[in-house]
Amino acid sequence: MEKFWIHGIMPIQLLLVLVFTMILFVSVNYYLKKIGKGITKFGQAILIWLAAIFIFKFIVVPPLPSALVYTFMGLMSIVIFILVSADEQSWEEFKRPILNTLRSETGVYKNARIVTFAALPLLAGIGTYDFLKPKFEEPIELRTVHPAPPAAVDIETVDGKKQKFTLQTARNPFRIDDKGGYSDEVQVKYQNGNPWEKDAPQYLQYVREGGAIFFQNCHFCHGDNLNGRGMFAFAFNPIPANFTDAGTIAQLQETFVLWRVSKGGPGLPREGFPWASAMPPWEQHLTTDEIWKVILFEYWHTGYYPRTWD
Ligand code: HEC
Repeated sequence: MEKFWIHGIMPIQLLLVLVFTMILFVSVNYYLKKIGKGITKFGQAILIWLAAIFIFKFIVVPPLPSALVYTFMGLMSIVIFILVSADEQSWEEFKRPILNTLRSETGVYKNARIVTFAALPLLAGIGTYDFLKPKFEEPIELRTVHPAPPAAVDIETVDGKKQKFTLQTARNPFRIDDKGGYSDEVQVKYQNGNPWEKDAPQYLQYVREGGAIFFQNCHFCHGDNLNGRGMFAFAFNPIPANFTDAGTIAQLQETFVLWRVSKGGPGLPREGFPWASAMPPWEQHLTTDEIWKVILFEYWHTGYYPRTWD
């Protein structure tokens, strides 16, 4: 059975959560009122506010940046204010505990006033101090992960072959259908095929060869699940690319990958500063055919398709 609750299915999930929370609030309040223990307006406001911050911080997927959470909570405060001041009676009810605290005529409110006027400023002070205290963090490196590629790349491989590829027009010569012609569809067709079958289609045979090349050369860094967690991965900064992440090869044209694999870290242009990438220039170790095959394998294994020139 398909999983019913897939975390992050928006916005349906969020709507469900909101509806559920509302029903919960209304029914609990109804019940408490019935047994004569209704929550005060002030308490209700605080609870709604806390529930909202909980949902924004822990339920919404992908996580919201904190600036957005602050904005939403500001809006929430306004909404709650409008809610409690909607009519005279509820406004009276809302401000009663606040006024009582200020007047502090009874014991409980005396304590509440001490807490409000001593502890809260103190906490705010500590928070401000912590916020302003200089912290010593590493300087950030503004590395462009995917710098603009050159228009064409000259690849000179170990077998002494020199080839020039125009990135806009070159195609992976191994991404071919059963008739041997280039095909964007062939990967879709054989995505679930078995490259180890004896008479696997040509495309899958190339995928298998690419896999062998990957496990001889790349998995030390890029990991045997292609997730960038190879055994050497943690020695490097920047860390090796995680091909299963939608932010790497899934975003790239196949020829961009050809350029990156053949030229590696040393081939990065100016924007690639600080050029600290450990990615080897594979033209010094593989043939162009091997590079194309390993790229074919990476796409097949992750199930991503290369970006087309659109
Ligand atoms: C010594 C470790 C190491 C090995 C071995 C290695 N890589 Fe990398 N690779 C990296 C690092 C580090 C990065 C990230 C920095 C960068 O983009 O240059 C990277 C980046 C890449 C990228 C760029 C992805 C992107 O999103 O831009 C591709 C493609 C890639 N590697 C393919 C390969 C292939 C194919 C092999 C094997 C033939 C291989 N790598 C072997 C370290 C390695």
